[in-house]
Amino acid sequence: MDISPYVPGESEVAGGLKPIKLSSNETPLGPSPKAIAAYKAQADHLALYPDGGATALRNAIARHYGLNRDRIVCGCGSDELINLLAHAYVGPGEETVYTEHGFLMYKIATLSSGGTPVPVPEKGYRADVDAILARVTPRTKLVFLANPNNPTGTYIPHGEVRRLHKGLPGDTLLVLDAAYSEYVRRNDYEAGLELVATTENTVMTRTFSKIYGLAALRLGWAYCPAAVADVLNRVRGPFNVTAPAIAAGVAALEDRAHLETAVAHNDKWLPWVTTEVEKLGIEVTPSIGNFVLMHFPATKGKDVASADEHLKKQGIILRRVAAYGLPNCLRMTIGTEDDNRRVVAALAEFMKH
Ligand SMILES: Cc1ncc(COP(=O)(O)O)c(C=O)c1O
Repeated sequence: MDISPYVPGESEVAGGLKPIKLSSNETPLGPSPKAIAAYKAQADHLALYPDGGATALRNAIARHYGLNRDRIVCGCGSDELINLLAHAYVGPGEETVYTEHGFLMYKIATLSSGGTPVPVPEKGYRADVDAILARVTPRTKLVFLANPNNPTGTYIPHGEVRRLHKGLPGDTLLVLDAAYSEYVRRNDYEAGLELVATTENTVMTRTFSKIYGLAALRLGWAYCPAAVADVLNRVRGPFNVTAPAIAAGVAALEDRAHLETAVAHNDKWLPWVTTEVEKLGIEVTPSIGNFVLMHFPATKGKDVASADEHLKKQGIILRRVAAYGLPNCLRMTIGTEDDNRRVVAALAEFMKH
């Protein structure tokens, strides 16, 4: 009963308006048409259980990234993998460490495993490696790091991730949540493949919900040391990934052109939204994901609740992120060109009055 249920991004607005939903970091471009076709083709086989080992998908991921398929574990969204890691490695009297504005599932997964969540202050909305290491004790079983982080959109460079790993005891697992890594265009960024390949206590989680546009199918994967993959394969449900999800995931990975289009779209509109919103006098945390965090003043009439209400009246749904310790912020997912222009126009009108 200590767990506050995760509240998903809203999807409806009053007045029968067609909503512009920019509340869950979904891609405005949708999935690859090839993934949709692969999904539909599964409709003829729904009586059969899926391949419990998700072999075709693990093979495709292994090919795509040059990985060992035996160390890949697929899940019902990366949420499931986060939960499985907590259930397998954390119990009463044990702790997980994550950053103050880190992804909410880390806390929920820890509490549901009977463990103690230990949030660590960030510096300028960014993970602070020294602060994290200062909170690690022999009770720390997992350190979760979303890189880039949701909802702040900030990241730490690979050198800092390595330093974090180096400072951890060998029996503390570092979980690198790279849900948004496909969007990142930074030379000093690494999703975590190399650390997983070269250490025994790093796991990287990934998702098909964001850039691949398959959030409805619930599909994620983890790259793990062999011993961790072995544990996750023991505790997961035997058919935790559905056959349509496996088929769509394989096709999505093969459509590199679609991925490139999605990256190019974000490369164009992320800076545009950031600049245009800042021009209105609203502070924006620089993001490398497919979303931006906007900070509103506490001033009555210009505060976050008023902004949210104003946007909703025009059918625009962003995300309140008070549950992440950011009570004055709204998070906006980068949308289509039209979505982005409408949000900026609506915010301009809001700031004028
Ligand atoms: C940082 C981060 N990790 C994991 C997830 C979960 O993604 P999924 O369970 O859809 O794979 C999200 C989704 O919002 C996220 O933002």
